[in-house]
Amino acid sequence: MLLPTAMLMPMLNVQVIDHPVIQTKLSELRDKSTDTRTFRLLLDEIAMLMTYEVTRDWPTIKRPVSTPMEETQGAVLARPVTLVPVLRAGLGMADGVKRILSDARMGHLGVSRNEKTLQPDSYYAKLPPDVKETEVLLIDPMLATGGSAVYAVEYLKQRGVTSMKFMCLVAAPEGIERLHLKHPEVPVYCCAIDRQLNDRGYIMPGLGDAGDRLFGT
Ligand code: PRP
Ligand code: URA
Repeated sequence: MLLPTAMLMPMLNVQVIDHPVIQTKLSELRDKSTDTRTFRLLLDEIAMLMTYEVTRDWPTIKRPVSTPMEETQGAVLARPVTLVPVLRAGLGMADGVKRILSDARMGHLGVSRNEKTLQPDSYYAKLPPDVKETEVLLIDPMLATGGSAVYAVEYLKQRGVTSMKFMCLVAAPEGIERLHLKHPEVPVYCCAIDRQLNDRGYIMPGLGDAGDRLFGT
């Protein structure tokens, strides 16, 4: 038996990044009068700002540093990073994340939700060969039914990835629940958990179709 989402939510591995600057940008992004150019800019900026929070608990290792004055111990990320946008809309977050994680390598997963069945259709995949040795950030602005995210996480696990986080802007309770029933150890970071899905699988109130708004299609 499934527990109601409202009861499950506190137990789930999800963090809402409710920073006031991010919330201000998210409100403008949601606005239907926001044009493509501004939508791109806001998505990019929010992704950049979220990255500080999402990476906060990544392990570091000590590294000796010679400053102009003396030797000291610095700290650097313990593992390389792979950024995996879910095409298309995830691409709109990639540059923002890379501004913080400039050494990150990139993988790409092409997944398109069938608008009738709401099932994910995969059409492209390319990952760095050593992806399993890296910290993976899976990025997609929308977590709706969770079908695309579950597919992407499973694909990465099959390639040996053991450490990954899912980063989105807007999540539906249904999507969080579905992702965590399958993959409870994968943390979800979002800027908002919206009310529900409508009967066409769109997030309400949401922001509409992220890919279409990002690419003007
Ligand atoms: C959107 C979004 C997610 C997916 C979420 O992509 O970017 O990938 O839908 O829906 P789900 O949780 O119900 O699977 P879409 O399939 O519309 O493709 P696009 O990015 O190419 O527009
Ligand atoms: N994909 C989107 O882009 N928006 C939604 O609300 C749901 C799925």
